Amino acid sequence: MMTSAEILKVVNQGLESLSYNRKPTSLYEPIRYVLSLGGKRIRPVLMLLSYNLFKDNPETILMPALGLETYHNYTLLHDDLMDNADVRRGCPTVHKKWDANTAILSGDSMLVLAYQRVAQCEAQFLPQVLHLFTETALEIGEGQQFDMDFESRCDVTEDEYIEMIRLKTSVLLACALKMGALLAGASDKDADLLYQFGEKIGLAFQLQDDLLDVYGNPKVFGKAIGGDITSNKKTYMLINAVNRANDAQRAELLKWIEAKQFDRAEKVAAVTRLYDEIGIRQLCEEKINFYFEQGKQLLEQVNVSSDRKEVLRQYTNAMMHREK
Ligand code: IPE
Ligand code: IPE
Ligand code: MG
Ligand code: MG
Ligand code: MG
Repeated sequence: MMTSAEILKVVNQGLESLSYNRKPTSLYEPIRYVLSLGGKRIRPVLMLLSYNLFKDNPETILMPALGLETYHNYTLLHDDLMDNADVRRGCPTVHKKWDANTAILSGDSMLVLAYQRVAQCEAQFLPQVLHLFTETALEIGEGQQFDMDFESRCDVTEDEYIEMIRLKTSVLLACALKMGALLAGASDKDADLLYQFGEKIGLAFQLQDDLLDVYGNPKVFGKAIGGDITSNKKTYMLINAVNRANDAQRAELLKWIEAKQFDRAEKVAAVTRLYDEIGIRQLCEEKINFYFEQGKQLLEQVNVSSDRKEVLRQYTNAMMHREK
């Protein structure tokens, strides 16, 4: 078996070896740029780790795993445009370094490249793999649209938020884990258990992303702190802050949500102070642990010896203690 560090190295080397010898370079340079900025490479690593539960030599499925990373990075190009985010992985986002049209078109081409790469798997698995990937990609679009629709709604429930993050984030982690299992010839039962494991850790992962967006270390996080507060994202934190606030706190929160013109830093500081008063950080941390624990139980049910699961167990543990 390989360690997760070894798998990460294989993934990064694989990404570096991809060549973009096509023209115009103005289309391909942003693609090369975003894929060269680092990133945790969680989706391809999870896919190879899942394969490695059942079979050795996970590098044999490297190309479809790089396809998932390409797909993820495509979503980031469009997401940063939609979220009006200037910084990613500590560097200017594509629409800032170039422009919005570049983020749209290079993003579209990345989606096509993602399909090209995902399809480079053993022919017998291709129908299943493409079905899984296509369903996942459709769901992510749905999640992203809910996320944007929620910005202008004030009655979003916690259940609606959880379903939105399941769609925009969890399903890709789940897809990575299931794809790794399918390509290793695992049973449908085990592949589905790994999918469900991915859904649960994906919920914890996005809750954590939202938490870091408020409480992360700006030097480490790689994205601007307070972006979600600025754009009125209906996060678990904001929904619960409104529900648990006293009358004065609720009035102040609503004032900031409704403000058309405001100083960004002032709004972020004021809403963060309200979160602190209401105890939102701890509440969110408890919810992260809740989904993480549920995920762990699903992994334990996979029909593979316990010691074979240890690498994946440790990798997800480390994911849950991330700072970026
Ligand atoms: C960012 O994903 C988008 C979310 C789903 C929260 P990651 O946190 O995996 O970003 P990178 O790829 O490591 O930069
Ligand atoms: C991202 O959610 C989900 C997808 C990119 C599909 P966010 O908007 O919270 O991700 P970040 O914080 O910009 O990475
Ligand atoms: Mg977003
Ligand atoms: Mg975003
Ligand atoms: Mg975020």
